Amino acid sequence: MLKEKMLNALNEQINAEQYSALLYLSMSSWFSDKGLPGFANWMYVQYQEELTHANKFFNYVTERSCKVQLKAIEQMPTEFESIVNVVEKTLEHEQKVTGMINNLVDIAIEVSDHATQSFLQWFVDEQVEEEANVEEILDTLKLINGQGNGIFMLDRELRQRAFVDNTQTAG
Ligand SMILES: [Fe+2]
Repeated sequence: MLKEKMLNALNEQINAEQYSALLYLSMSSWFSDKGLPGFANWMYVQYQEELTHANKFFNYVTERSCKVQLKAIEQMPTEFESIVNVVEKTLEHEQKVTGMINNLVDIAIEVSDHATQSFLQWFVDEQVEEEANVEEILDTLKLINGQGNGIFMLDRELRQRAFVDNTQTAG
């Protein structure tokens, strides 16, 4: 069984991961609407990944013989200013999630929950990768500086991203 403080924080994280999923799905739709199928695909894969994160937490709480408390998901934005704005918002969001994961680790240490601390390590590593991926796109966008050709090329590249459930391969 999980301690109450740990369980509450894990339940909050399930909600946050589900919110992340829907935020990226909303961004995917925005990109589709702007005629950018590659960006839309990248965000759709991002959505699929976030669902696997939520499910990984869900399964862990269940495995520890506790009940998941699902909560209402906050309305995500549906309109964005520009391509760069969407990617900047994605980076900001991932940085916020990193902070939440670190906070979960702090709680696990505080309540001496070594199993949860070990479980969370996968997410600590995952967040490093998440932030790096988004930063790379943001750097490329800054180089392109709004030029149509560059956007077209980047969109073609982002079309290549395929969903892989990496929660199944490790941890
Ligand atoms: Fe996530």
